[in-house]
Amino acid sequence: MQERLQQLQAEALHKVDNASGLKELNDIRAAYLGKKGPITEVLKGMGKLSAEERPKMGALANEVRDAITAAIESKQQLLEEAAVVEQLASETIDVTLPGRPVKVGNHHPLTRIIEEIEDLFMGMGYAVAEGPEVEQDYYNFEALNFPKGHPARDMQDSYYISDDILLRTHTSGVQARTMEKNHGKGPVKIICPGKVYRRDNDDATHSHQFMQIEGLVVDENIRLSDLKGTLDLFAKKMFGEDREIRLRPSFFPFTEPSVEMDISCKFCGGTGCGVCKDTGWIEILGAGMVHPNVLEMAGYDSKKYTGFAFGLGIERIAMLKYGVDDIRHFYTNDNRFLKQFSVHE
Ligand code: DAH
Repeated sequence: MQERLQQLQAEALHKVDNASGLKELNDIRAAYLGKKGPITEVLKGMGKLSAEERPKMGALANEVRDAITAAIESKQQLLEEAAVVEQLASETIDVTLPGRPVKVGNHHPLTRIIEEIEDLFMGMGYAVAEGPEVEQDYYNFEALNFPKGHPARDMQDSYYISDDILLRTHTSGVQARTMEKNHGKGPVKIICPGKVYRRDNDDATHSHQFMQIEGLVVDENIRLSDLKGTLDLFAKKMFGEDREIRLRPSFFPFTEPSVEMDISCKFCGGTGCGVCKDTGWIEILGAGMVHPNVLEMAGYDSKKYTGFAFGLGIERIAMLKYGVDDIRHFYTNDNRFLKQFSVHE
């Protein structure tokens, strides 16, 4: 029995020594030290031994087990270290490889225009206001002096959701909302950029969804000349110091008087060309003095307060400024178009 145990030890140690991987080592452990292994098998014969020999054999069997266990453990450590070294070697990073180019996005041209206009007006003390795109008929029309059935509602073909709810056709509703929030007291000085919707067929100059910026100033003693000075500054900052403006009489239900502003054509300098349709002037926006009814409906005393308002289409400004000839380019997300407005290249 003693010999058999020693033989098993020698055999196991030899195998451990030659083991080339962790899996193989585990198999050896299971084969020699497991419950059904040869050592257990040998020990089953202990019953036949004398009382003297039994403890000796027991002790020897334990020594053999310990020796095999120790050999397996130290081999396991060696193999694990080798595996780490091998992994590190296979994962070395070649720092000399050329890097992959990082793609940097850029602001959409309409966002650039909005930010430029916001900066300009914020510099003059305006706050930026917002309103909902899904709007109540009241704010989109009623509070702006378009009663139900008023013919001027037809100027803006609307997407109605229910009798009282629609997709806003202009940002002008934010005028009424902002004044109402002020409870008819104190000055208002805001601009409001945002999306608007109209039942138009899309073509080079129309889009069923586009963007506007609304402006509103309400205070005591606000005059048409304040509006004119503000618009003149806006035109010069956006399109160049040599631009001139002219105001033409117009009609909007929420302003009285109402005007439309043209700027002198920057493409021909005013002599007439294709862009200005040979007039020398390009229409830019609608504006006017806030109608007393609009002030009163929002709770302002129209004897004490006056105001001016203006509204412009952002796409139109972007098209003129960047020389874009089709409004649909802003919404079709063609990278070749958008990349031209990158500040990174
Ligand atoms: N809301 C008008 C439109 O969409 C534009 C406009 C005209 C806004 C005159 C104004 C304004 O604030 O005073 O056609």
